[in-house]
Amino acid sequence: MSPFFIFFFLSLPIVSLSKTTNPITPISSKPPTPPIVGITITNHTITNTLIISTLQTLKITHVRLPDSNPDTIRAFSYTNISLLLSIPNSFIPEISSNRSKALKWLNTHVIPFYPRVRITVISVGNDILDYNNNLSVLLLPAINNVHQGLGELGIHNKILVSTTFSFINVISPMFFPPSSATFQVIITETLIKPLLKFLARTNSSFLVNVYPYHIYWSHSEIPIGYALFQENSFNFRDDLMTGVRYRNLFDTMVDGVVTAMGALGYEDIPLIVTETGWPSQGGEREIDATKIYAEMYLKGLVRHLRSGLGTPLRRDGVAETYVFELLDEEGTQKGVESKKHWGVLYQNLSRKYDFDFSSAAGKHDECERCVIFLVLLILLTILLIWFW
Ligand SMILES: *[C@@H]1O[C@H](CO)[C@@H](O)[C@H](O)[C@H]1NC(C)=O
Ligand SMILES: *[C@@H]1O[C@H](CO)[C@@H](O)[C@H](O)[C@H]1NC(C)=O
Ligand SMILES: *[C@@H]1O[C@H](CO)[C@@H](O)[C@H](O)[C@H]1NC(C)=O
Ligand SMILES: *[C@@H]1O[C@H](CO)[C@@H](O)[C@H](O)[C@H]1NC(C)=O
Ligand SMILES: *[C@@H]1O[C@H](CO)[C@@H](O)[C@H](O)[C@H]1NC(C)=O
Ligand SMILES: *[C@@H]1O[C@H](CO)[C@@H](O)[C@H](O)[C@H]1NC(C)=O
Repeated sequence: MSPFFIFFFLSLPIVSLSKTTNPITPISSKPPTPPIVGITITNHTITNTLIISTLQTLKITHVRLPDSNPDTIRAFSYTNISLLLSIPNSFIPEISSNRSKALKWLNTHVIPFYPRVRITVISVGNDILDYNNNLSVLLLPAINNVHQGLGELGIHNKILVSTTFSFINVISPMFFPPSSATFQVIITETLIKPLLKFLARTNSSFLVNVYPYHIYWSHSEIPIGYALFQENSFNFRDDLMTGVRYRNLFDTMVDGVVTAMGALGYEDIPLIVTETGWPSQGGEREIDATKIYAEMYLKGLVRHLRSGLGTPLRRDGVAETYVFELLDEEGTQKGVESKKHWGVLYQNLSRKYDFDFSSAAGKHDECERCVIFLVLLILLTILLIWFW
């Protein structure tokens, strides 16, 4: 029996008997800062100029470039678009062995452009555990060399250094309920602990790819609405250990990471979700890869981030979230069909559906709720007067 099943099964009787409310009720004392919703741009065949104008039209302020190509980086000069760069996994061995190699990378990817290009984070490697487990012992030395390289250039306080993991490779499979989540045992002492120590010391963030789509896909007992932020009165699961109520899979996963960090004594390190999204089309077995679900997921995600409620275990929520990805990869991706269809735009740059990732839009949805509440109140008053 899968852990998810147990979690869901256990939570049902509680739900029907006790009607518990979430013990952490939102406090609206300080207005929530607008969430940062950026986007990942992978290899593409569109000119950089066109990419920039597209981003500006979409009012996107944060971009993550997993293939950090100097020409692409240069194109962001004077745009005030913030960049999260990545050093490829294949560079890790040499960068870990020699700081001058780290400086060489910085000299071609950062120094010529900074600060005209707003570079804010450098991820050393991307999902190294999936790429080659053997390299994980070299990761921290590589991260240190990049950080010290930035120090020599006098900008280590301006550009943060970290690495990117994917949720399923870094968190143990038994992450339900979230309060029981831990990092995978074999990497905890050797890799995660020293990494968290480094991140805390340098004010950096933990970067993680969070894909409810993949978890949903491999756990048939999860209702689709729970994965798609359809927050109705039936879509919630209680964490019996903490009494906390979860209303979507994204929060469940994020709080798994928060708990795992907390168990090692680092509950305050900011979290950046480096990838999340939903494919709009897939192969025969990927029946949930549809345009309608992709739109529901992204709209639900942005609405949830804008609500300012954070997650049950982290009031401030995630620091930044990067949607995967800007463009479809038709023709460039092999493997399962859905891999080609994560873009919010088709390859011809037209939108698949309506979306708004700009941070300006503010608390629109909460006001919608206020209006509904007001209308109900007025109706109630009228009824009362009527029956008086
Ligand atoms: C992107 O393109 C570059 C050069 O064309 C190539 O080296 C790199 O492997 C590509 N990355 C991906 C993820 O396809
Ligand atoms: C640049 O972007 C940052 C945040 O993304 C914002 O605070 C700042 O006002 C922007 N600056 C200009 C000149 O637009
Ligand atoms: C590091 O690389 C530089 C230049 O590539 C070289 O001169 C130096 O000897 C190397 N240091 C070590 C410890 O390998
Ligand atoms: C990792 O190291 C082991 C033992 O040295 C080796 O057999 C294996 O091929 C290596 N894996 C990769 C992907 O390099
Ligand atoms: C980390 O942030 C704190 C508070 O914002 C600041 O006081 C401290 O100097 C920062 N440390 C580093 C190494 O940047
Ligand atoms: C862009 O491509 C998509 C999918 O290939 C197609 O449905 C759409 O009509 C195209 N839009 C334009 C404006 O060509």
